[in-house]
Amino acid sequence: MPSIKELLGLGAKKLRGVTQNPQKEALRLLAFSLQVEYLWLISHDDFIVDEPKDFLENLDKRANFYPLEYILKETSFYSKMFYTDERVLIPRPETEILIDKISSTCRGIKKPTIVEVGTGSGIISVMLATLMGGAKIIATDISQDALEVAQINAKKHKVDDIITFVNCNLLDEVDDKIDILVSNPPYIKKGEKLEKNLSYEPQIALFGGEKGDEILREIIDEAIKRDVKFLACEMGYDQRWKIDNHLKNYNLKAEFYKDLAGIDRGFILKNTKMNI
Ligand SMILES: C[S@@+](CC[C@H](N)C(=O)[O-])C[C@H]1O[C@@H](n2cnc3c(N)ncnc32)[C@H](O)[C@@H]1O
Repeated sequence: MPSIKELLGLGAKKLRGVTQNPQKEALRLLAFSLQVEYLWLISHDDFIVDEPKDFLENLDKRANFYPLEYILKETSFYSKMFYTDERVLIPRPETEILIDKISSTCRGIKKPTIVEVGTGSGIISVMLATLMGGAKIIATDISQDALEVAQINAKKHKVDDIITFVNCNLLDEVDDKIDILVSNPPYIKKGEKLEKNLSYEPQIALFGGEKGDEILREIIDEAIKRDVKFLACEMGYDQRWKIDNHLKNYNLKAEFYKDLAGIDRGFILKNTKMNI
């Protein structure tokens, strides 16, 4: 029977080439399987593990690029832990910028009605409910499975009384007057070859149509039609010119923002008729 030290060594070896942190991930997987703290593992490395079956199975999955977040059933986002499973896209750190853009730019809107299209795990709506006091939030998703995860996270962070979840295409079931519209929609072009780890995430969360920007353009059209005060969206690294061109049809210009790697990542569009 193997010791903790041997299992950690095996784990780190198997995960080489899969992740940049093979040792740390092996530690996390073993701590998860044995339901102990990392520190306990490190200080008991001679301890013999009678049944390492769970750990070995999870290690095999991870060695096949299955995401760690789905194994551990959690992801850190905006310094909070969110429940995550295969029903939703894994929260990405760059989406934190979208939250910051909204909470800093829209501070002047009192008790805003915020609508999120494509809430997935609920990270955006949950964080906005936490940061923007007095807001009313409606979160839609075409996937009922995703909404179930979003509801788990809203309850976990005690904002389930602030967010209404709606299972629909885009804004089809939303009649409310919207102040702030936000979305991190699927924006990858259909058929684009993806890295192996992405193949485990819901395809409906990734692919935005034949060209990739179809859903983004529909969201822009809806925002303009409904006269929303503020639209904020995440987008693909190569979609800035497409969004720019689409907005030219309306004689509008968005403010684009980059992520921490300096890559175009999203835009905000302010309704110039409103004073915000
Ligand atoms: C890229 S994921 C974003 C999830 C989450 N908001 C985030 O930022 O991590 C896109 C989400 O949009 C949902 N979605 C895809 N097409 C949709 C549509 N036509 N109407 C509403 N939601 C849609 C997917 O189910 C998925 O949950």
